[in-house]
Amino acid sequence: MSRHPAPLPDLDAYRRRAARYLPRMVMDYVDGAAGSERGLVRNRAAFARVLFAPRRLTDVAQRDPSVTLWGQRYPLPLAIAPTGLNGVVRPDGDLMLARAAGRAGLPFCLSTASTSSIEQVARAGDGEKWFQLYVLHRDQAKVFVKRALDAGYTTLILTVDVAVNGKRLRDQRSGFKVPFRMTPRILMDVARHPAWAVSQLRHGLPELANFASADATDATMQAALMNRQMDAGFDWQALEALRAAWPHRLILKGLTSAAEMRRAQAAGVDAVILSNHGARQLEDVAAPFDILRGLPGDTAMPVLLDSGIRTGEDVVKALCAGARMCLLGRATLYGLAARGETGISEVIAMIGAEIDTTLALLGCSRASGLGPDYILDDPVR
Ligand SMILES: Cc1cc2nc3c(=O)[nH]c(=O)nc-3n(C[C@H](O)[C@H](O)[C@H](O)COP(=O)(O)O)c2cc1C
Repeated sequence: MSRHPAPLPDLDAYRRRAARYLPRMVMDYVDGAAGSERGLVRNRAAFARVLFAPRRLTDVAQRDPSVTLWGQRYPLPLAIAPTGLNGVVRPDGDLMLARAAGRAGLPFCLSTASTSSIEQVARAGDGEKWFQLYVLHRDQAKVFVKRALDAGYTTLILTVDVAVNGKRLRDQRSGFKVPFRMTPRILMDVARHPAWAVSQLRHGLPELANFASADATDATMQAALMNRQMDAGFDWQALEALRAAWPHRLILKGLTSAAEMRRAQAAGVDAVILSNHGARQLEDVAAPFDILRGLPGDTAMPVLLDSGIRTGEDVVKALCAGARMCLLGRATLYGLAARGETGISEVIAMIGAEIDTTLALLGCSRASGLGPDYILDDPVR
């Protein structure tokens, strides 16, 4: 008989387990958002305001949650969003996320601010790898793009909502930084979470692996990345050069309007991720799900969505509103923190099962058959 503990019942249970395992400082880094964190509430509220309009007596005996995008079939309409410093959650967090995504047949997006390198992650499992680019310095960005290309990444994601760092009060209060600065308060916090402390000490403290060389410019770049000192001059013209340098799929992450999407398409961009960075940048920016619902129906470019996805119902609502795929940010990080690689797989499977249940109860047998007729505004709100 298997001795594996049963998966936890819902994402909140993974979140609670994560909060017990991680020092407060790390949990705050994962959970935190900009300003007074109204944006987090807004991202969730956008989903709550929309209801399902189920169809009854339809044949849903066989259901198919897969989607096809760029001619490729994904078993679930999900990808793992790029998140920096995953190794602070668990050593080798990037590798665990990449392997778990690969086993589920889903893409994993590696952040520029990763704690395993582009090349290490390329070798982790056989899943599809996407690379998310932050431009700190254009010459260095060229090197990253070349490394991602050589390592076999299929897709480049340019994140466009981080010209500078959002004001994250929790990180300011805790003094969260990599490498850690051991203040008495941080030491107390770490001492109260011994399992985390032991795993980090065994492995060696995490570093920004893509910059890890003895080179002085790397150290400067690491510091710049920690403070999100991006190349704030990067504009549409600079995008043209990036487009020319990357021969495969290019996705912009963080656009928020139909007009900018048209401009991106004209610039040769292949898709967009509607995102407000999980409310970590501007506090009062529209929830991506609301933006999606306001887009004209004739958007030619595939639209992906993240920010606030916590359940399979959220994913199905996003698909009904026209998204082709959703990205999981904090959700899979809770799984990683709570139970390591197994926890990530459990969270993916749980959201997959919720998608399946929602399709059945909605009376729609295929994720690819969802559309706006299956949702409506909550008349009570
Ligand atoms: C801990 C953490 C780190 C993140 N780091 C990055 C990053 O390095 N690059 C990036 O483009 N987005 C980053 N994001 C944003 C995610 O890619 C994604 O947009 C966001 O998490 C989606 O919202 P959700 O967490 O509500 O699902 C980060 C998000 C979190 C929670």
